Amino acid sequence: MQSLLNKKIVLGISGGIAAYKSPELARLLIQEGASVQVVMTDAAQQFVTPVTMQALTGNPVYTSQWDSSIANNMAHIELSRAADAILVTPASADLMAKLSLGLADDLLTTLCLARDCPLLLAPAMNKQMWEHPATQRSAQRLIEDKVTLLGPANGFQACGEVGLGRMLEPVEITEQLIAFFQKKLLAGKRVLITAGPTFEAIDPVRGITNRSSGKMGFAIARAAAEAGAQVHLIAGPCDLPTPLESTGKITRTNVISAGEMYAATMQSTDCDIFFAVAAVADWSIAKPAKEKIKRQGKEAPKLEFIANPDILAEVAKSAKTKGGKPHPYCVGFAAESHDLAKHAQEKLKRKGIPMIVGNIGPDTFGSDLNQLLIIDPSSSKKTGQAEKLQLARQLIQLVAKKI
Ligand code: CTP
Repeated sequence: MQSLLNKKIVLGISGGIAAYKSPELARLLIQEGASVQVVMTDAAQQFVTPVTMQALTGNPVYTSQWDSSIANNMAHIELSRAADAILVTPASADLMAKLSLGLADDLLTTLCLARDCPLLLAPAMNKQMWEHPATQRSAQRLIEDKVTLLGPANGFQACGEVGLGRMLEPVEITEQLIAFFQKKLLAGKRVLITAGPTFEAIDPVRGITNRSSGKMGFAIARAAAEAGAQVHLIAGPCDLPTPLESTGKITRTNVISAGEMYAATMQSTDCDIFFAVAAVADWSIAKPAKEKIKRQGKEAPKLEFIANPDILAEVAKSAKTKGGKPHPYCVGFAAESHDLAKHAQEKLKRKGIPMIVGNIGPDTFGSDLNQLLIIDPSSSKKTGQAEKLQLARQLIQLVAKKI
């Protein structure tokens, strides 16, 4: 799936060492289906060449406002007219200062001033430059002018220092640009999600878990954050990165066992929507051994189980009614080996929830693809087979309508 299909992006590059990341960024934007038109300042060309950017984007690179090859000699108007967004990476302290004052003394700054499309900047500079009151003033003014700042991040800088000012990675900038274009259907809403498997210890080195990868739950977390929600993601043991981490829209709590997932969830039920996507163990070991169970001279151990709480059913039970609708609105998931529709219907009733989503598969565990059967008390419909992120976005649209 290409999340930037048909989007026309003007990629501005100003002078800073982080410009070395711009070719990679252009490649990622194109992979997502965008067409990329590069504009570079004089200083940017000290770090990366127009030839590199031209070769990667397949488009001529603009470096001057005095380019006579453009029919009406108004590159700034032509370029911004066609664009869905202007994205400047890196945005140097100097560029931010100019833009905050409305100065326009080269092609990139003129383009930004003459635009009628959104402007996004990824600041990149040494930490003293970022912290300088003048730069902070520029950043504040730009935000007031409805310019979107992506980052900067905290971390190692080219100058050898550690701190705020590092440019976000190309992957993070791409993720944030994609999020920028999504409809804000859940603006101001709080979404709670459980995702991934749980792990029930037998002894300090062994345990029982399941095949859930966490991908569907993480995709829903991303789609909800893209839609403007503040998300709390409670994740069982899985090594997936937190989506949109650099935006701060997703807070993640890592848990191991079903008991831990239950405790973390019950502390967070003050939310608008609860997606129970985790494959929660139904039972845990009654008395996990404190030391590793040794094999030698022993018979195979007999494990005794105790039942875990049903997290989803408990949250649904504690839900209140707000505007005639359950609050939080609880969405369950069902992965079955057979009779999906029948089992999903039964779970909808048993857990007292307004919606359940069945995983049709083919083999949903660990796959990037899935197909869903979405059931509520009055209807049932199948989606097509698609990437989990695409399905997650469809689900968010549906739930946004319901609430
Ligand atoms: N669920 C939960 N807590 C549990 C078990 C399940 O929150 N202890 C949630 C899952 O996250 C999912 C839904 O309930 O949203 C259905 O989970 P599933 O394991 O399919 O159902 P169970 O109720 O465990 O029933 P069964 O094992 O008989 O299929």
